[in-house]
Amino acid sequence: MNIDFDALRREGLAQIEAASDAQSIEQLRIDWLGKKGRITELFKQMGTMTPNARRAFGEEINAVKDALAEALETRAAAFNEAELARRLASESIDVTLPGRGEGVGGLHPVTRTIRRIESIFNSMGFETVEGPEIEDDWHNFQALNIPESHPARAMQDTFYLLNGARLLRTHTSPVQIRTMQARKPPIRIICPGRVYRVDFDRTHSPMFHQVEGLYVAENVSLADLKYDLQKFLSLFFERDAEAMFRPSYFPFVEPGADVHMKWGDRWLELLGCGVVHPNVLAAVGIDPERYSGYAFGMGAERLAMLRYGVDDLRLFFNNDLRFLEQFR
Ligand code: DAH
Repeated sequence: MNIDFDALRREGLAQIEAASDAQSIEQLRIDWLGKKGRITELFKQMGTMTPNARRAFGEEINAVKDALAEALETRAAAFNEAELARRLASESIDVTLPGRGEGVGGLHPVTRTIRRIESIFNSMGFETVEGPEIEDDWHNFQALNIPESHPARAMQDTFYLLNGARLLRTHTSPVQIRTMQARKPPIRIICPGRVYRVDFDRTHSPMFHQVEGLYVAENVSLADLKYDLQKFLSLFFERDAEAMFRPSYFPFVEPGADVHMKWGDRWLELLGCGVVHPNVLAAVGIDPERYSGYAFGMGAERLAMLRYGVDDLRLFFNNDLRFLEQFR
């Protein structure tokens, strides 16, 4: 059998040289040196040869086989090395790059204001109490001496649920009622929370926050109310707050008042208050002959606006981080 071993070797080496990746090299190894590869097939032909011819043929074919095996190994190693280098480069982490950064959160200005109000009243002996945001007519209106025909009940002010069987509380005053039903005097509480009204403009939001206050005991008078609120305002605004009590009407107090505070050259309304109406005490089974009390209700957003000098209430609800970040 006449075979051009040199040509065979050149052909194999050329193919190995031309291979473009590790898979092609592996394919060439199978094509040439595998079980059915071209070199292996040639070895099989040696069985019919004379011993001399077989030795000469064996030497030649072994030489080709070794040359191809070595070339395959060298190329495979080169491809593996290149692959490793590529992965090292693509998977490496540049520890000198700046980090993504973590934003530090902060309390919302209204939350900060409510906590401030709470901590001042807590220090004055008032306990914090909470009540449900979904109320019924009796707690939100009836027990607070707000008659059936009162305009505050009108559809355009109150969010009604379940065909009017329930409503979103329009103020925190029903928490007074719930607390007085559950406890005996003396009672000294504040009730922060969300309230809801059908209202939306620069100074009104459909959801806002109030803090209700109630003090019921023997001999509580308007003088106690004025003294305690004056003290609270001075602590809250950190100055000798000039407050004005102006007569006002709320069905659940008698007498009732608005408290205004001097702000620059203007008087700003801060809260409503008064001496608890005997009808309210009677509605919750507290003897109005023996006990008396005062109550007040303030808007948390209003106090936050004054404390932080914010003139549009809606800023508190837009969740614009540029605004909120200033209060961290
Ligand atoms: N509930 C009143 C409102 O939402 C605020 C208020 C006024 C509460 C006088 C009181 C009070 O406890 O005595 O406008």
